[in-house]
Amino acid sequence: MTILDGKKVSNDIKDEIAEEVKQMKARGEKVPHLAAVIVGNDGASLTYVNSKVKACERVGFESTLVKMSSTASETELLKKIKELNEDPDIDGFIVQLPLPTQIDTQKVLLTVNPDKDVDGFHPMNFGKMALDMSSFIPATPYGILELLERYNVETKGKHTVVIGRSHIVGRPMSILMGRKGFPGNSTVTLTHSYTKNITQITSQADIIITALGNPEFLKAEMVKDGAVVIDVGITRVPDETRERGYRITGDVDYKNVSKKTSFITPVPGGVGPMTIAMLLKNTLLARENHRL
Ligand code: GUN
Repeated sequence: MTILDGKKVSNDIKDEIAEEVKQMKARGEKVPHLAAVIVGNDGASLTYVNSKVKACERVGFESTLVKMSSTASETELLKKIKELNEDPDIDGFIVQLPLPTQIDTQKVLLTVNPDKDVDGFHPMNFGKMALDMSSFIPATPYGILELLERYNVETKGKHTVVIGRSHIVGRPMSILMGRKGFPGNSTVTLTHSYTKNITQITSQADIIITALGNPEFLKAEMVKDGAVVIDVGITRVPDETRERGYRITGDVDYKNVSKKTSFITPVPGGVGPMTIAMLLKNTLLARENHRL
């Protein structure tokens, strides 16, 4: 069994990006600038956004954090997005999800300039992705592809089962694994809360990608010998033995499932760090596109 070490690979990618930035600086060019907008005070969201800002510092990007109150109106947020769209100094930006209920998320995502949409959530980018056109690919699915590629995990002709159809992970993942090329060329089954007899489906899978947020959902009896298991779950489970009062748990019963797998991602240290590295990669791409 090989552990797909997202922490190590993401550090390699950050080193590669930092090197690119160094060369940009040496040529006297402007370095990439990422902005992140967060609305409200959700603990997990704040942690993610702070990690994104820290990662920018690590590779030499500029970053701007825009914090808005949990009571901010949709109009106020849309105004901020339009400012970022028009600001020539900002190469790419993200609006951290989920948003408070008074704000229409679809409207927000439609307002982001697709050329600055480094999350790849705008329908223009999502559509291009589905049509094999060059676009921003959402960071978590992109990170999974990169992990599979760097560990040379065979995907061609394999049966990939994706669990969860979220717009951020499951749905794009199901499209990407079926695209032409590597990693891709897979036969994909997308499962969700209405799927009947999921064990029958997962136990036929060569590759399982779980993006549910349901701690230890995937049990050993649901996985065939030699399968590849990618765990996108990151749920905070209360744990009084930890200083911060919780531990991070994936969708996979790792202790028992890992014994059967050929490759598996740990939680933490698997897909999570890859997401941030790929956001940086998209921001670098946005800068390069703007330079043309
Ligand atoms: N919330 C959970 N994952 C993500 C992500 O990749 N981007 C944004 N903007 N919000 C998220």
